[in-house]
Amino acid sequence: MRAIVLHGSPRRGGNSDTLADYFIRGLKSAAEVEVLDFILNDMKIRPCQGCESCATSENHKCAIDDDMHQIYDVFAGADVVIWATPMYWGYMTAQMKTALDRMEALAMDTQKYWVDKEFVAILTYRHHYQSTVGFFERVQDYFRFKFSSILYCSKNVDGPEDYHVSTCSEKLDEANRLGREIGLRIISQDLEILP
Ligand SMILES: Cc1cc2nc3c(=O)[nH]c(=O)nc-3n(C[C@H](O)[C@H](O)[C@H](O)COP(=O)(O)O)c2cc1C
Repeated sequence: MRAIVLHGSPRRGGNSDTLADYFIRGLKSAAEVEVLDFILNDMKIRPCQGCESCATSENHKCAIDDDMHQIYDVFAGADVVIWATPMYWGYMTAQMKTALDRMEALAMDTQKYWVDKEFVAILTYRHHYQSTVGFFERVQDYFRFKFSSILYCSKNVDGPEDYHVSTCSEKLDEANRLGREIGLRIISQDLEILP
């Protein structure tokens, strides 16, 4: 089993990173997993230039030569893709949105890249997450991935500092449980298709 974790926060060890970690622990408790972490903030990924060359190029290869190809190269083989991002100004972070726009090159072959994958959105926020969950829900029928989400509100009503999710054992348990549940689900499907 392969899991890709797209880390959208610039804060290492923040809320979304921590929840992704607990999700992966749960997944690992159910199955042997190859985990590929992509720290988008540390990668050189240019914004999509809208050239549309991926529509006609061989294998729909993106014309931009940058770190996004590290993700392209492994995406087809992933069983689970974790989109871990805080909400920034009403949507996923710019780091995550830039990578998402570049997924255009993978949108041409839905069967190879999207159908039946488990997508997990881990969204951390103070006020609002609906726009990003709404995005995944809106495209789900077309791309036919399976969608789950973990939502964490870090707002501290008593002061300026957010509550770090590590102080919320219920949320950590939820992430862990969902990881395990999805791991077991994938294993049982694999067993079903064995001859
Ligand atoms: C620049 C910036 C913009 C933000 N904009 C929003 C927002 O629009 N809506 C919201 O609910 N939270 C917003 N937040 C709060 C973060 O989403 C929240 O602190 C989150 O828990 C951080 O997650 P992380 O620890 O994974 O980075 C913003 C935070 C920053 C730094």
